[in-house]
Amino acid sequence: MKKLTLTADITVYPDIESLPDAMGDLMRGAVTAREKAYAPYSKFKVGAALLLEDGSVVYGNNQENAAFPSGLCAERVAVFHAGATHPGKTIKALAITAASELRAVTEAIAPCGGCRQALAEYEYRQNSPIAVYFMGDRSEVYLAASVKELLPLVFTKDDLLNK
Ligand code: THU
Repeated sequence: MKKLTLTADITVYPDIESLPDAMGDLMRGAVTAREKAYAPYSKFKVGAALLLEDGSVVYGNNQENAAFPSGLCAERVAVFHAGATHPGKTIKALAITAASELRAVTEAIAPCGGCRQALAEYEYRQNSPIAVYFMGDRSEVYLAASVKELLPLVFTKDDLLNK
């Protein structure tokens, strides 16, 4: 037997003001999207902003439902929105922010496993990395230069093929 050790490369910015200008703008867009989230059950609002290759920005936020599993996370709302309205456009970066009515979110909030898988599909399709910036409300900002950093041992289309 052998052991594999998997590591993730994450860059940590002390706050939103420390981001490069364009990424600060993207994160501020995510904050605006977050404020429009529909999260009456969890009271945990998440906003996402995607920067596309042509400079356009697509937003998403979490949309909850009284039948809880029928709701959807901000990140998936954003990538599906981009897939629906800007098909074939490469996604350069994703900014994510989370805030709660129940507590101060002072740590970076990473996308959930289901969203990582959905994001991985887009990254695979476009064959170029999506930089993922994520933070809480007022917190450090974490940067993963690729979805692969967040989802090692990813399952992709390749796994469905005969090899
Ligand atoms: N949520 C997101 O929008 N993104 C994540 O990556 C984690 C969780 C939402 C789903 C639900 O509306 C609320 O946060 C609490 O789980």
